[in-house]
Amino acid sequence: MYTLSQLSNLLEEELQKTALPSYPENLYQPIQYILQLTAKRLRPALTLLSCDLFKGNINDALPVAIAIEMFHNFTLIHDDIMDNAPIRRGNDTVHQKWNNNIAILSGDALFALSMRQLIKCDPSNLPHIIDEYTKAALQVCEGQQLDMDYEKMYAINISQYIEMITLKTAVLLAASLKLGAMCAKANNIDSQHIYNFGLNLGIAFQLQDDILDVFGGDKFGKQPGGDIIANKKTFLLIKSLELANIDQYDIIKSLIDNRNEKYTTYEKVSKMTSLYTELNVKEITETEVNSYYQKAIACLNEINLPNDKKEVLQLFASQLMKREV
Ligand code: IPE
Ligand code: IPE
Ligand code: MG
Ligand code: MG
Ligand code: MG
Repeated sequence: MYTLSQLSNLLEEELQKTALPSYPENLYQPIQYILQLTAKRLRPALTLLSCDLFKGNINDALPVAIAIEMFHNFTLIHDDIMDNAPIRRGNDTVHQKWNNNIAILSGDALFALSMRQLIKCDPSNLPHIIDEYTKAALQVCEGQQLDMDYEKMYAINISQYIEMITLKTAVLLAASLKLGAMCAKANNIDSQHIYNFGLNLGIAFQLQDDILDVFGGDKFGKQPGGDIIANKKTFLLIKSLELANIDQYDIIKSLIDNRNEKYTTYEKVSKMTSLYTELNVKEITETEVNSYYQKAIACLNEINLPNDKKEVLQLFASQLMKREV
């Protein structure tokens, strides 16, 4: 079996090898730019780890891993337009550095490039792989639409929130693992277990992302408080509305009222952050993160393989839960 750092090196080498055309510059430079910014490469690492776990050949899963990382980067380019985000991975977002039209088109091209990686995998497996990949891609779009719809709505409950983050974030982690398993021709039952491991881990990961958006500081590489500014219905906000007393409730409502010009962006972020602290929602969200992490580990334990083989994935998951970026 490979170590995580061996797989990460392999992945970076492979990404560097994928040469892009140079013309038109305004189409390909933004793609080059986003792909070379320092990133965790979680999803492709999961694909390779899963393929290796089920005794597959890593080379069979590499094109899928690259395709998934490209797809993820495409979603980030478009997500940053939708979220009006100025910073990504500690640098200007693509639409900020170029403009919205360039970001839309280079995102589209990156999606197509991702498909062109995918079709390099074993032809006998390709229909199943494309089926799984496109299913996940559509679910990400569904989740992203709900995320935007909820910006404009007040009464979003926790189960609507979990559904939304499952779609926008967790399914891609789950599919990354399942696709790795498929490349290794794992059986359907184990493929489902590893998918469920990824789904729960992905939910924990997005809950953590919501915490870091408020409390992560500069090293998180995004605009601090971006979710508060955009009126995102995060777990922290939904819980705060649930736990607030009448006065706190009124303040939250006025903070998320877009017609209200009483607050500057800075005041909005700092007032909401103070309320989150008063209501202890960071700790409550952390408990939720841990609960989904435990569910994920339980799914990993279901896989019919010796425990020592699953240690790499277990370690990967536990380190992910300690992340600061
Ligand atoms: C960011 O994903 C988008 C979310 C689903 C929260 P990552 O946190 O994996 O971003 P990079 O690829 O490491 O920058
Ligand atoms: C991201 O959710 C989900 C996708 C990109 C599909 P966020 O909007 O929370 O991700 P960040 O925080 O911008 O990375
Ligand atoms: Mg965003
Ligand atoms: Mg978003
Ligand atoms: Mg976020």
